[in-house]
Amino acid sequence: MVRLAMLGCGLIGDFYAQALLGQRSRDQIRIAYSRTQERLDQFTSKWNVPEGTTELLRAIEHPEVDAVVIATPNHMHLQAAIAAAQAGKAVLCTKPLGRNAQEAYAMLQAVEQAGVFHGYLEDLVYTPKTLKALGSVQEGSLGKVLWVRSRETHPGPHSSWFWNRELAGGGAIVDMGCHCIEIARSFIGKNIRPIEVVCWGATQVHPIDSEDHAIGLVRYENGAIGQFEVSWSFRGGMDLRDEIVGTEGTIWLNHWLRTGIEMFSSVGSQAYVAEKSESSKGWMFPVGNEASALGYLDMFEDMLNAFEAGRSPRETFFDGYVVNSIVDAAYRSIESKRWEPIELVRWEHVQGDQDSNSKQEGDFEIIKRELLPDGTERRIVKNRKTGQIENR
Ligand SMILES: NC(=O)c1ccc[n+]([C@@H]2O[C@H](COP(=O)([O-])OP(=O)(O)OC[C@H]3O[C@@H](n4cnc5c(N)ncnc54)[C@H](O)[C@@H]3O)[C@@H](O)[C@H]2O)c1
Repeated sequence: MVRLAMLGCGLIGDFYAQALLGQRSRDQIRIAYSRTQERLDQFTSKWNVPEGTTELLRAIEHPEVDAVVIATPNHMHLQAAIAAAQAGKAVLCTKPLGRNAQEAYAMLQAVEQAGVFHGYLEDLVYTPKTLKALGSVQEGSLGKVLWVRSRETHPGPHSSWFWNRELAGGGAIVDMGCHCIEIARSFIGKNIRPIEVVCWGATQVHPIDSEDHAIGLVRYENGAIGQFEVSWSFRGGMDLRDEIVGTEGTIWLNHWLRTGIEMFSSVGSQAYVAEKSESSKGWMFPVGNEASALGYLDMFEDMLNAFEAGRSPRETFFDGYVVNSIVDAAYRSIESKRWEPIELVRWEHVQGDQDSNSKQEGDFEIIKRELLPDGTERRIVKNRKTGQIENR
């Protein structure tokens, strides 16, 4: 059993509690922190949490707490992580790790210097569909991954602080691009160094300082491209989709609007349909088990099993730091309108795969094979000596 302090009782604190306690569980939320007493009382009574506090340090330093879960707004992650590390507690932090790479690196240094366990709570690399797809990619079903396109778009966040650039660290990129970036990194290979970013971002709809729409490309050292598409201006619910394209195959994932349940009601549903659903009438796309579909169940299983076994989880503060560094480069690119280098203070992984994908037959490199309608096989090849491209 792991005894946890839950810092923050908002939307994500509630999802985390559902994942940790919603089904038969061996872990405990020992104490919860929220800014307001009202929200704290609702949360502690809903989840049967024995103690609550509106003082952050009281929750972190509680003697019966083994691990601290940071689920507060972005501007509070740094102070909470440093306090937890200094108290000698394991630290699990929601996304984004920091508001920028500087904060994320300070958090990484704090946990490393204190020698405490650290996990980056990037749930979307743990969805059952993503884990299945990652397994297929890792066993080689797609060959070498060339392009990963990841999208998270919805009509905008549910709390005021997200819309405040100072508190959040940015807009849709830091809020949702962080998911898309880590999804792409996971498929391309976390040992492959991300090199540079080009990004367009704009405030298209809302009266805010931050971007409410952005599209970016991340180039990796092996030539692979990660593409993120994020928007707070999208209408129609929450669109969570990933496409993985490799030399030998393709995977398309749709996590939210086409989950397998499509329901029409002329009278409408009186109940909650799904996160960020805009409609409770007409065609609807409910989700069977949101905590599972969004990866929270598998994420906490990995995190807490890793903590008990004394190993690193799939996602650590180093991963969160890499993501923040990519996000920072994206913001620089919006300003400069150019490719911007990803500045990493350190890189932990071995040199990535730089291999060419081409297949060779004698003097010819095969560009493409295709079975034509008349039943013949066409090979388009390049003569390595002359450079000529021809049909064979
Ligand atoms: N998929 C995900 O992993 C996911 C989804 C949503 C949010 N998040 C992250 O979780 C964190 C919290 O987001 P949320 O959606 O739960 O937010 P929320 O607004 O729903 O809840 C925020 C919580 O923090 C407390 N709080 C303390 N100080 C505050 C302050 N100055 N302003 C506002 N709230 C304050 C509130 O009382 C509340 O308990 C953010 O870092 C966000 O990026 C992650």
